[in-house]
Amino acid sequence: MSETDNSRRTFLALAAGAPAALALGGAASAQSAQSGDRALPGAGRAALVTGSSRGIGAATARRLARDGYAVTVNCLVNRDLAANVVRDIEAEGGRAIWRQADVADPAMVRAMFDAHDEAFGGLDVVVSNAAIMNTAPFADFTDEAFDRMIATNIKGSFNVLREGARRMRDGGRIITLASTSIKAMRATHGGYAATKAAQEIYAGCLSKELAGRRISVNALAPGPTNTSLLDVPPPLRAQAAEMTPYGRIGEPEDIANAIAALCSGDGEWINGQVVFANGGFL
Ligand SMILES: NC(=O)c1ccc[n+]([C@@H]2O[C@H](COP(=O)([O-])OP(=O)(O)OC[C@H]3O[C@@H](n4cnc5c(N)ncnc54)[C@H](OP(=O)(O)O)[C@@H]3O)[C@@H](O)[C@H]2O)c1
Repeated sequence: MSETDNSRRTFLALAAGAPAALALGGAASAQSAQSGDRALPGAGRAALVTGSSRGIGAATARRLARDGYAVTVNCLVNRDLAANVVRDIEAEGGRAIWRQADVADPAMVRAMFDAHDEAFGGLDVVVSNAAIMNTAPFADFTDEAFDRMIATNIKGSFNVLREGARRMRDGGRIITLASTSIKAMRATHGGYAATKAAQEIYAGCLSKELAGRRISVNALAPGPTNTSLLDVPPPLRAQAAEMTPYGRIGEPEDIANAIAALCSGDGEWINGQVVFANGGFL
């Protein structure tokens, strides 16, 4: 018998004896099927989103709160903006706290997760979103600009994913922000794109480490998105819009919607992947 036949038989045998939750697509689907209601996907759950004082992170925190999650909002320097996001969420009837923490600092990251646990009693979604983008030709890149980007984007995301791996409840979701720049290979983007390519490796490896716990880990790769990180002159923005089949660049809410989709019960089978959310830009 060939190896293919063997695997097919094993699969069929497993499927025949599969528990209801597996047949329905996992715990989240089973939960909603059991309750038979239209409960929000985040009801009774809690999420932590780094870099959520503005841009994609803020849109994600707001969206997850609307989906029912209690949310921890994080900033590096813009405390007022983080507090505003929390106020907006509370004004809509949601629950949120904010914490200032440099993701590059493991002790600060631990303290932020402790504050989250204390406020909400558990963790179901981690979005490792905080990052900076420094671009320059290789020949001109300064050590300082490169090192800060490595500290924030590679070490920082590692710090966040490590705490997530230690603390998440079973059935959770971990999403780390990559970028379409990992495919685009643009001049001057070498350093930044390398830090974003690391997120693909993180997602793939961590998804396997968490085997058996129904925690999916994915890298979400936006295209050009309308935030202050996209610090380019209007003609370049227009060019990016022209290169996108929808004729516009992304809005933070477009990316928040994609993240919310991964967090939903229907997102469970997407695991260990890079998911490009760029309107077809590349
Ligand atoms: N915008 C795009 O075109 C685009 C495209 C592809 C991928 N992405 C990725 O999407 C993610 C979000 O980008 P964005 O455009 O929303 O960025 P953004 O508007 O510049 O916002 C960055 C957020 O990260 C926070 N932050 C920065 N350094 C931090 C640190 N060391 N510790 C904690 N928080 C920190 C900022 O906090 P403060 O407000 O306190 O500074 C802010 O909340 C990033 O991972 C980025 O690489 C963006």
